[in-house]
Amino acid sequence: MEMEQLVALCRRRGFLFQSSEIYGGLNGFWDYGPLGVELKRNVREAWWQDMVTSHNELAPPSGAPSAYEMVGLDCAIIMHPQVWKCSGHYDLFHDYMVDCRESKRRYRHDQIEGRWVECDGRRVFVASSATGHEAEDDVKQKAMKFFNLRAKNADKLQWQGPMVSLTTVESPGEVLGPDAKTPGTLTEPREFNLMFKTIVGALGGEDDAAFLRPETAQGIFVNFKNVVDSTRVKIPFGIAQIGKSFRNEITPRNFTFRSREFEQMEIEFFCHPSTSAEWYTYWRDRRFKWYVDLGLAGERLRLREHDPEELSHYSCGTADIEYAFPFLTEGEFGELEGVAHRGDFDLRSHMEGKLVREGDGFAVEKDEHGQPRHRGSGKDLTYMNQETKERYTPHVIEPSAGADRAALAFLCEAYCEDEQPDEKGKLQKRVVMKLHPRLAPIKAAVFPLVKKDGMPEVAREIYGELKRHVNTFYDEKGAVGRRYRRQDEAGTPFCITVDGQTMSDGTVTVRDRDTLKQWRVDREACVEEIRERLRA
Ligand code: GAP
Repeated sequence: MEMEQLVALCRRRGFLFQSSEIYGGLNGFWDYGPLGVELKRNVREAWWQDMVTSHNELAPPSGAPSAYEMVGLDCAIIMHPQVWKCSGHYDLFHDYMVDCRESKRRYRHDQIEGRWVECDGRRVFVASSATGHEAEDDVKQKAMKFFNLRAKNADKLQWQGPMVSLTTVESPGEVLGPDAKTPGTLTEPREFNLMFKTIVGALGGEDDAAFLRPETAQGIFVNFKNVVDSTRVKIPFGIAQIGKSFRNEITPRNFTFRSREFEQMEIEFFCHPSTSAEWYTYWRDRRFKWYVDLGLAGERLRLREHDPEELSHYSCGTADIEYAFPFLTEGEFGELEGVAHRGDFDLRSHMEGKLVREGDGFAVEKDEHGQPRHRGSGKDLTYMNQETKERYTPHVIEPSAGADRAALAFLCEAYCEDEQPDEKGKLQKRVVMKLHPRLAPIKAAVFPLVKKDGMPEVAREIYGELKRHVNTFYDEKGAVGRRYRRQDEAGTPFCITVDGQTMSDGTVTVRDRDTLKQWRVDREACVEEIRERLRA
């Protein structure tokens, strides 16, 4: 499947629109349309239900070291600025960017790729901001243009090595920027903090500056004590949160994959330090299985344990759950979720202040006067085991997922094209979104075969009954084959058709989106039949 086909379907059928499209759109922001909003709600609800509401705290799930509790939170998007100072986001949450003096465009340093090429004794690094095969093609075309070559003279270009990242280039003067006509127009890489800044209150001074949260996790850490004090949870337990996060990404791209406003589904799981390694393994495998169970099975999904040098400064172990999105080069994977063993880093940061590595451990970072660079809350965020009387700072395992990336992966995986005979037996191309029934925006559609002979009345009755239980769509317009195909594109798992036979024997046809099998069911039993199949 080409990404363009999916993007076109998402727009045509109302899954996703560019934000503020009538004004030309706003890069990095997306709106979910009538089908998309249902899909994303279903992703969120599946996560919340599987992780929180249906979790049985009395019995250990398969693979868990013990039984555990789960509760939820819904925190404010804007938090006290000190939260981000202590967490490290204020000082460290940045990417490197380069500016082009000629085109006035800005790029993320590590996202520019290019290739060294020589022609007539001149050597340049031709850069592209595209990805995958597009980047290679772009570089070839730009090199031809730069050296003023016609297609028949393409072999005059002497390519030196494969496509590599701009970060490997040490001579910026030889770089032909992605949108430049002359080499040497890119600046040296500079730090760019990804947090969106805003002003709280009417006065608007620097003291009133605050940030839109770049992750939901910190809201959980700063409420750890509130949750322990206001509920009866005992370690081990997890706190879950779903909510919007904001990052001023330098180059948002690849549809919703890298957006500036997105939704996260995060768990902070608090446990005793002696058991944290086992809990890490449990959560890593549990979260991977969640995607498999919802239809991301197959070689496009993988679990990748980070190498020690790839680990964040606080992490004792991290694994990424990754998906081979179609916009990536063959063999490349994009992150859907990170599962990190964060030790006691976060709770300590909010007690003591911003931490930095010191030897094998961490210590509060000091300023030039020997004072904490960013002072913590000073509140006691340790945990007391009432039975053993042991007091300790819990370790944290963090499964951190993106709702938009998950929705995008489910859409990519679901997209299928096949050929099916129409009413006249002629083979027609069919686009079908084979979404898992739990995720499908519409669960069933009800059609009268024709708009007469009492069929619409029966179909409307069935529609009304089914709608009380699941999201159902009613359609009586056009040929029934076209109505089926519209539902296939929307990913609707079942269609019910009321036809002439319904009027004589009281049965209706049920059609399965994936197998295309049709069977007859008693009209009175069809609502239960659909509900039963959706539960399966
Ligand atoms: N609290 C840890 C944390 O935020 P992260 O890897 O930066 O970790 C977690 O983000 C998840 O959030 C990612 O795996 C991804 O699914 C999603 N995410 C992060 N940045 C995103 C962006 N710019 N657009 C869409 N989703 C994003």
